[in-house]
Amino acid sequence: MSSIPQARRVNYICIAAALGGLLFGFDTAVISGAESFLKTQFQLSTTMEGWLVSCGLLGCIIGVFATGAISDRIGRKKTILIAAVVFLASGIGCAFAPSLNVLIVSRLLGGVGVGMASVISPMYIAEFAPAAKRGQMVAYYQMAITVGILLAYLSNALVLQVAKQDTGSGAFHWLFSTEAWRAMFLIMCVPSLCFLLALWTVPESPRWLVSVNKSHEAARILNFIRTPEEADKELSDISKAKKRSSSTSLFPIEKALRVPLLIGVVLAVLQQFSGINAIIYYGPRIFETVGIPSSNALLFQVIIGAINVIFTLVAISYADKYGRKSLLKYGLTGIVLSLISCGLLFYTGNTQGYLLLVLILVYIACFAFSVGPVTWIIINEIFPTNVRVKAVSLCTLALWGAVWMVGQFFPWLLDKAGAAITFWAFAAFSLINFIFSLTVVKETNGKTLEEMDEVYIAPH
Ligand code: BGC
Repeated sequence: MSSIPQARRVNYICIAAALGGLLFGFDTAVISGAESFLKTQFQLSTTMEGWLVSCGLLGCIIGVFATGAISDRIGRKKTILIAAVVFLASGIGCAFAPSLNVLIVSRLLGGVGVGMASVISPMYIAEFAPAAKRGQMVAYYQMAITVGILLAYLSNALVLQVAKQDTGSGAFHWLFSTEAWRAMFLIMCVPSLCFLLALWTVPESPRWLVSVNKSHEAARILNFIRTPEEADKELSDISKAKKRSSSTSLFPIEKALRVPLLIGVVLAVLQQFSGINAIIYYGPRIFETVGIPSSNALLFQVIIGAINVIFTLVAISYADKYGRKSLLKYGLTGIVLSLISCGLLFYTGNTQGYLLLVLILVYIACFAFSVGPVTWIIINEIFPTNVRVKAVSLCTLALWGAVWMVGQFFPWLLDKAGAAITFWAFAAFSLINFIFSLTVVKETNGKTLEEMDEVYIAPH
């Protein structure tokens, strides 16, 4: 990618699409602040409370299915725009919900947006990024997720601060004080609007355009984001790849697709079985159980969130230089060792002091530069264009299924088996991920999407 304006354009397009990750992170984290308010105001039973959280996940699953079904038909750009509109509608719906039912439907809608964005945002980026920078650019998406989580914590804290100080009356008082959870959701409309506006001017994916026989349009867009020589070569590669395989149906699964699908699904599930969300969301509660006062919970959330953001920068810088597998190798080594050590601290009762906090931060840092971004990078680059959206949807569905499983079983395991066994269980899954990544996953950095055939898909 030699030409400066083209490089800038493609960077803008990928950053705009990555904002989908910002909403993903914000939407999943905002509920942690709003939950206690909602519980008090609506006198939620445990079932209703569980439902309020899990309806978001149900929405995700619907969103993933919807994207798999519509994106090949209407195109990547329209799909991503729909995700942005859905996010905005969900933010408004949650903030002004006149009843619990409307709130639940709006949360479900937010989940649909998250599910859609989790398929379409990184995939759109992968289809635009030049091969040499694809790792970096898909990692923007992970970066946006982590920034979204951090922003939600900070904005929840800000709303709480305003709520404490505000003694007025009227709409502002209602939104920010008496029913402060509304403001927490309303703030989500700001990143939603930014996402929508940023996407307005981005072009359609040239790969999708070729797949629907609009090669002229694809050539025009490629010339906008690449030098003329690069554009010609890329168009010819995409067209050749299209001739090789034209079926857009994933089932029955072709022999050549079995290994990439296995890799995508296994990496997605093992990403979640590393316990990342349990540790991010229960982290402050874990600290409480070891005597660190709960008044520090926000501080810990912010520290965890900031480390998560900062270490994603490592992946942005090195995913293309050292490759996906190197990041997985070093990251998973750190993850396994820190989880085993955390388990040992719990097992021996040595949980006082700051060693536990340090180990958890090491774990977050290692996740942030490896398993977090690299899972998304690999899922979005290993499938051929004709089946990409369906295959990516299947892997993302597996990821959300695993999110659900961890959410269901983590509290149970913690309760029945204790923290040591729980940490060791996460360590065991991460060890499996380490072995799998080193033996089955192949290096894909620097290859164009069309060259993936040579990496994974056996020649016919
Ligand atoms: C995972 C999310 C997680 C986030 C944390 C993402 O890669 O898919 O489940 O919350 O990383 O940074």
